[in-house]
Amino acid sequence: MTGPVSPDSPATPDPDGARPGPPPRLTQSGLPIAPLYGPTGLADDWNPADRLGDPGAYPYTRGIHRTMYTGRPWTMRQYAGFGTAAESNARYRQLIANGTTGLSVAFDLPTQMGYDSDAPLAAGEVGKVGVAIDSLDDMRTLFDDIPLDRVSTSMTINAPAALLLLMYQLVAEEQGIASHRLTGTIQNDVLKEYIARGTYIFPPHHSLRLTADIFQYCRSELPRWNTISVSGYHMAEAGASPAQEIAFTLSNALAYVRTALATGMDIDDFAPRLSFFFVARSTLLEEVAKFRAARRIWAQLMRDDFQAHNPKSLMLRFHTQTAGVQLTAQQPELNMVRVTVQALAAVLGGTQSLHTNSFDEALALPTEKSARLALRTQQVLAHETDITATTDPFAGSYAIERMTDDIEAAARTLMTTIHSLGGAVRAIERGYQKHEIERCAYRITQETESGERVVVGVNRYRQATEAPYAPLRVDPATEHRQTARLRDVRRFRDQHEVTGALARLAKAAAGKTNVLPPMKEALRAHATVGEICDTLRTVWGTHEARAEL
Ligand code: 3HC
Repeated sequence: MTGPVSPDSPATPDPDGARPGPPPRLTQSGLPIAPLYGPTGLADDWNPADRLGDPGAYPYTRGIHRTMYTGRPWTMRQYAGFGTAAESNARYRQLIANGTTGLSVAFDLPTQMGYDSDAPLAAGEVGKVGVAIDSLDDMRTLFDDIPLDRVSTSMTINAPAALLLLMYQLVAEEQGIASHRLTGTIQNDVLKEYIARGTYIFPPHHSLRLTADIFQYCRSELPRWNTISVSGYHMAEAGASPAQEIAFTLSNALAYVRTALATGMDIDDFAPRLSFFFVARSTLLEEVAKFRAARRIWAQLMRDDFQAHNPKSLMLRFHTQTAGVQLTAQQPELNMVRVTVQALAAVLGGTQSLHTNSFDEALALPTEKSARLALRTQQVLAHETDITATTDPFAGSYAIERMTDDIEAAARTLMTTIHSLGGAVRAIERGYQKHEIERCAYRITQETESGERVVVGVNRYRQATEAPYAPLRVDPATEHRQTARLRDVRRFRDQHEVTGALARLAKAAAGKTNVLPPMKEALRAHATVGEICDTLRTVWGTHEARAEL
């Protein structure tokens, strides 16, 4: 077997042997990309039946569905949310009118951290990076005139995910929609928050308990709901390489699987409703290989390590977002090109759902026009190109198959290391993933600053003067309007009913019973997100990031 030229082997000689060719480039994962791949570039025992399978069949390398996009295009699911529920509701209706096929809710940081808009810690953040949701009233407004039985809604919410899920269910009940018809996803992946994003509240043990409670609740109440979106995106944005992205994500997923199994659930009771979330970078070839490797690893783990029998338990279903960290503030129009290439990588890699960034997001919140342009980018790819005409067109490519094998091997090595550290949670407590990501981020920064890694418009092909860009800004009066709404909720509710509901929640949290039913009753009584999370903080305490061991 002659693999690609490795970085430490002599550079590829010219065919005529006159002089050595350039050294091989490295992928983002630090793996060599051979200047040329050929039939001998794969393992001697490599065979398509084992390594690829058919689309829709084990090991799902070629995609989770037999027909993939020839049967149904990916979901165009634009992440959106800002200001008050009314403002975000207007944006969702604009997106639906422009052809989006799935909703994706961005919440502001107070909501994500389980604080009410009038909490001292919320000042200055209300409605800023997402929509402010304090109560059932806000949730009702957020989905006003949106038929929840006809859309699938993703909610990027982690520590308080149960609350937002329950409010969504309550609003659907008010619309007369049966819970078993609701489809959507909550991110609900707190482990990556400890590693890279930071919107955690409770200590890992209690966070994992809450995750398992959600799995159990959805199994009986919301069978079509995707209970978690185990995310590599934020770790990638923090600097993780593609190999680290899939290794750390799949290792986190194994921690959730083991937690759920420990409660007595069977693997096939919950694994079909696990989902994933990855980034798509501009390095298209490696990204396509990354997605294919991730599907193959997950299918093998579910079949061989957990004896899952339901084929849906073996399918790695994922959402992709184009790489926010690769957007530039300089010559922002160039970002339309980057996003197109990144979206192409996601689609050629077999994503189920896709968010395309707006070109102005390195500057501020997307305007209505830039958000529409981002969606149109997906529509051009879906309807003007031929990439939905056939399934997994890269299959059998010497380069892609070898790169898929290489990144799979690199990811499995990292997963073995995490396993040897005692699993994802123990590794997180030791700072392993965070440390590895920081090392990778430092390497990328050095390469960019040296010019070795070209960023057009930033370290090459710069433009001396650029016209100022008028981005969208969140209205400063948002915080005032939102806290006024919150005061009304508290004024007009039955405080005795709220107090009793919170007391019952505290009792459940202190015990072993599922906390979602008492949470739902508290929300129905108009308890707020902050009041419920404060009740849990009192019982469970909060996680304080410790200096790494
Ligand atoms: N053949 C047969 N069936 C097919 C098919 C085909 N070719 N294509 C699709 N289908 C079926 C599916 O099986 C599914 O059926 P089901 O409802 O019975 O399961 C149905 O059609 C819908 O297809 P998907 O479920 O694949 O598509 P969805 O879009 O509904 O779901 C998902 C995709 C990845 C499973 C889901 O978890 C999802 O939507 N995730 C989105 C997560 C998200 O948006 N995250 C945003 C994060 S932003 C963030 O974190 C913050 C920022 O800082 C980045």
